[in-house]
Amino acid sequence: MLSAYERDGVLVLENMFSSESCKQLMSHMETLVNGFKPSDHKAVFSTLSRAQEQEDYFLTSGGEIRFFFEDKAFDDTGNLVQPISQSLNKVGHALHDRDPIFNEFSRQDNMRLVAEGLGQAEPLILQSMYIFKPPHIGGEVVCHQDSTYIWTEPQSCLGLWVALEDATLDNGCLWGIPGQHHEENPRLRMKRKSNDANNTQTITLDERSWPEEKKVSLPVPQGTLIAFSGLFPHLSSANTSDKSRHAYTLHLIDGKCHYTENNWLQRDKNDPISGF
Ligand code: FE2
Repeated sequence: MLSAYERDGVLVLENMFSSESCKQLMSHMETLVNGFKPSDHKAVFSTLSRAQEQEDYFLTSGGEIRFFFEDKAFDDTGNLVQPISQSLNKVGHALHDRDPIFNEFSRQDNMRLVAEGLGQAEPLILQSMYIFKPPHIGGEVVCHQDSTYIWTEPQSCLGLWVALEDATLDNGCLWGIPGQHHEENPRLRMKRKSNDANNTQTITLDERSWPEEKKVSLPVPQGTLIAFSGLFPHLSSANTSDKSRHAYTLHLIDGKCHYTENNWLQRDKNDPISGF
């Protein structure tokens, strides 16, 4: 498995999580969503609102549980097109530290053993995201590398992606380009303009485009863990089906590597990034 991961940049492990534990996590998220009142935050989320407010909401979410909407969630007047449970893009980025049920799911031995087995000396959980990919409006995610957003020196980002529901070609499963993760750094880098800046920029480090003709689909059943390198280029298409595609993702970094101060995600000094 390790040699396949080193060759491809991705490893698919079916049956890592029981159907019951996936359902429990989904049902708990439903409770969190029902407790969230989008009307309180309409100014933040409406497409009519100021871009800086949205950026501040995102940039200060590293130690919080925050709700992010799909681009197509609102109509021209700022009202939701579908119920809120079918309007969210994701919740992030510290479910693993701020919610006891997500904490328990994230810090189970399965996760740590995969991280260590794939080469992380001191795995730290940097961020968690619950991804909804709702029916009809779940948007396309273009080809990218997660290390673009999570920079360590040397690179050490590892994505652990859990299918909480079956991920299919119709509801927007992951795709990736195997064997394209061997470069030292990602081709784009997103970072704060300066260490304390409340805005970001994306810098092109390598202008080549990805050989998307070599992409492979990764449809997987509920309970599958897809582990992939931060340098593995991946994407997903829009969800045009009438089924959601919920997933829970952790992004780990190796505590032996340097996490730079100009990464977008910064934690409070009294609330450091922690491991298992
Ligand atoms: Fe990604």
